[in-house]
Amino acid sequence: MLETMTLEQKIAQMIQPEIRDITVEDMREYGFGSYLNGGGAFPGNDKYATPEDWIELADAMYQASIDDSLDGISIPTMWGTDAVHGHNNVIGATIFPHNIGLGAANNPDLIRDIAGATAREVMVTGIDWVFAPTVAAAQDLRWGRSYESYSEDPNIVREYSAAIVNGLQGEVGEDFLNEQRVISTVKHFVGDGGTTDGIDQGNTEVTEQTLFDLHAQGYVGGLAAGAQTVMASFNSWNGEKIHGSRYLLTEVLKEQMGFDGFVVGDWNGHGQIPGCTNESCPQAANAGLDVYMVPTQSWRPLFDNLVAQVREGIISQERVDDAVRRVLRVKFRAGLFDKPSPANRPLAGRSGIIGSQEHRAIARDAVRQSLVMLKNDSQLLPLHPTQNILVAGSGAHNIGQQSGGWTISWQGTGNTNDDFPGGTSIFDGIAEQVEAAGGQVRLSEDGSFDDKPDVAVVVFGEQPYAEGNGDLNNLDYQRGNASDLALLERFQEQGIPVVTLFISGRPMWVNPELNASDAFVAVWLPGSEGQGVADVILRNADGDVQYDVTGRLSFAWPADPEDNRELLPVGAGMSYGDTPLFTSLLNEELGGESETEDLVIFERAVKAPWLLELRSGDTRAIVESSIQSQGAVAVSTFDDEVQEDARRFEFSGAQEAAFNFVAPFPRDLRAFMGDRSALVVTLKVPETVATNVMLNMYCGNDCGLNVNVQPILAELPPGQWQRTYFDLSCMQQEGLNLGHVSGVFGLSSTDPLEISFNDIRFVQQAPENAHLHCVSP
Ligand code: BGC
Ligand code: BGC
Repeated sequence: MLETMTLEQKIAQMIQPEIRDITVEDMREYGFGSYLNGGGAFPGNDKYATPEDWIELADAMYQASIDDSLDGISIPTMWGTDAVHGHNNVIGATIFPHNIGLGAANNPDLIRDIAGATAREVMVTGIDWVFAPTVAAAQDLRWGRSYESYSEDPNIVREYSAAIVNGLQGEVGEDFLNEQRVISTVKHFVGDGGTTDGIDQGNTEVTEQTLFDLHAQGYVGGLAAGAQTVMASFNSWNGEKIHGSRYLLTEVLKEQMGFDGFVVGDWNGHGQIPGCTNESCPQAANAGLDVYMVPTQSWRPLFDNLVAQVREGIISQERVDDAVRRVLRVKFRAGLFDKPSPANRPLAGRSGIIGSQEHRAIARDAVRQSLVMLKNDSQLLPLHPTQNILVAGSGAHNIGQQSGGWTISWQGTGNTNDDFPGGTSIFDGIAEQVEAAGGQVRLSEDGSFDDKPDVAVVVFGEQPYAEGNGDLNNLDYQRGNASDLALLERFQEQGIPVVTLFISGRPMWVNPELNASDAFVAVWLPGSEGQGVADVILRNADGDVQYDVTGRLSFAWPADPEDNRELLPVGAGMSYGDTPLFTSLLNEELGGESETEDLVIFERAVKAPWLLELRSGDTRAIVESSIQSQGAVAVSTFDDEVQEDARRFEFSGAQEAAFNFVAPFPRDLRAFMGDRSALVVTLKVPETVATNVMLNMYCGNDCGLNVNVQPILAELPPGQWQRTYFDLSCMQQEGLNLGHVSGVFGLSSTDPLEISFNDIRFVQQAPENAHLHCVSP
């Protein structure tokens, strides 16, 4: 087949665009080897698209791909989706617990069943390929993707990886990739869970042996089980981006580990290789990337550039042939050349399979098995359902919150209970059983009540997030605003026993909340079948235990907010009747060395994960070696004390322009909430400072501050380095949310201005003699 293909037809197999940025006509014209829908991308951009709508798009894309009228070739395309805890982009699908909860269940058979059910729900919508499992062995709970990791223990990850790959793809020699099965992806190769400080897409600084022993075990399990695709990771290994690492992608994965499927990139991940952009990156193909995941409109120039780069010999013909051979091999193995079109496959359109009772029963069972009990004083649990039970807390009746990220939308935000037809909240499950048993149950999110309950069940925890949006720099739950603790304490003060159900994507530092609870159960992110929680925490109407608590920690639980010490090791957890895990109150004092560390943004160079962005009018660019100006603003490097340690910004005044230090994902800067915390910029100003120089700080869309600092700058002695302290508490009063900072120090001007820096950092405690400038409009 390869011999009959033109170069353009081959490159098309290496391009994976996204449904928001291609049409069926583009598919007809190019014949892409595959395409994807990203998290929160739906057919017709309609969140409420029906299974029929999904099928219709799948079939149209397929028909266009095999139509050879424009591209001269008939190779079936394939559609990839992030079905990472069930077919989670589709309304009404069964949403299974996220991986961290499944790890706590430590039951490979269970997760094989979950994967099988997921494959079937995916097949109903005509989709061929699933970007799961994530086989990261997360080592730092501050990482926002910790919940996508089964365990910090590579042995659990290895075993699970094999089980889920078998569940998705079927068993080699038995039901491998038959019409009930989908292609799976082991991701993200390799070291995604090992980045320094748990920074998403960061740098994993370990030896090769550790990379293998700790971070690659999911590939050992998954590839042995026959996983057909591997996704390259955004992270670097010892400073080198994996997407550009020929050593890891080609020599290790393909040659040493013998992987003969194909390597797909992650979301424009190739564009992060030094010297690459989203639109041009021969380095990735040369390193061994077979398929570029290229959302947005970048696929057009990327296609043209790859064709040109092969013609020019920058990418060899052999490399292209190898990549395409791998893609075709997977398509043959998956039977795509023989299967009927997506709409005509056996499960297609059988929408009763999506969210079926059978699948919900598996999910409910998974919820039961995933719960981990950390405290149960006086054997308070399981509760008698004949009592008067008050259910409180913001997570009690909130299926979106209990499902977490990667649920209908990418971040899992913006969903209401109505977006989960057939699903149950944790409260729903408790209410049903208590009412059936003749007890009394009330939902009161804020904990208020008229008649005093016998017991309060308080459900609270993290709000949904995905990827780097969930990164934290400290695991203190509700840092700086312990409102849930206050709720627990109110019950305690009134002598009402309290059961805490903690919803979270990771263990967090909750010593105060543990102390204020009589019983404490980590429920992780259970998904759409909240009633599985009631099955465990309630007795039946006769007073018998229904299900014991069998989940055990798959991650150590932290003893301090910095995740430096263990409170409980992997494997910890109680069953009913067990002796307590701790016998005295836990330490509630905060402390630790990292409290005194500065957060450096710029010191000789911009410090990762921060990037320097220039904006002029509506156009923006990240500064790299090739880009140093953008419209009305330019940056240059000069020597102050050592080589190239300072930056000069010049605003021409031709239009409004700005620079800012931005992070790809918002950062948690709540370490800098103290009275004398400051942003410290060492800068040099000219004789006269333009009329309006606005200081910009961002904390996500529509959040931040934009204040004129001309009066502050104009007072500084010109032409000399000045360490300038900006008071962070004033900035918070002006609306800066320190928990979620995405732009740390930006200046904009509409007038000509020249200003230089050689150091930018956050300090927790400014020296006593430093004058803190308070910014205000
Ligand atoms: C994530 C992947 C995901 C991809 C497609 C990326 O940002 O890292 O896990 O498969 O997006 O949505
Ligand atoms: C997209 C998601 C995608 C994610 C990957 C977001 O910008 O909206 O669909 O999965 O990027 O990082």
